Amino acid sequence: MNQDIYRVFLDEKTIKSRIREIGSKISKDYADKNPVLITVLRGASIFSADLARNITVPVELDFMSISSYGDSTVSSGVVKIRKDIDTDICGRHVIIVEDIADSGLTLNYLIKYLQQHNPASVKTCVLLDKPEAHKVDVLIEYKGFDIGNEFVVGYGLDYAEKYRNLPYIGILKEEIFS
Ligand code: PRP
Repeated sequence: MNQDIYRVFLDEKTIKSRIREIGSKISKDYADKNPVLITVLRGASIFSADLARNITVPVELDFMSISSYGDSTVSSGVVKIRKDIDTDICGRHVIIVEDIADSGLTLNYLIKYLQQHNPASVKTCVLLDKPEAHKVDVLIEYKGFDIGNEFVVGYGLDYAEKYRNLPYIGILKEEIFS
């Protein structure tokens, strides 16, 4: 896998340290709120597992599976729910956990969808944000890093289902996806 990477974009230490900061902020903001972390599979699974262990107040974990990209590097904008939440979030504080916001369409859709369940609040926590790629306005309360238009993989992020288990985030060599 490493040989397909053009360069390391965010190393393990940098990611770990930022997640510690976000975890500490969430712990302060949600003291006594028992929030539900809703992780969007599959990309956010690794981020979410590390994030949850850096939150020091009780949280509940639930998962959704959404499809918007398929095996393409370009967002289709088509959002399809493959697996819904199992938790009753009515009156609960919800934090959506995502690995990346690109067009913002997935997050935008999820916020609106979850709000229909009458939660006490819905906020978003995203490891990587591509502000230049947004096609809709989306509010990200907890953000790891802003990135440009590089195609990144690793730490949960894939290209054609590969590279998710890289411990760092890297920029893929162009010849791999062109
Ligand atoms: C990725 C990512 C977000 C979405 C963001 O998911 O995890 O859910 O794309 O893109 P957007 O802001 O343009 O909507 P993907 O469909 O690749 O699935 P995966 O998490 O299983 O990799």
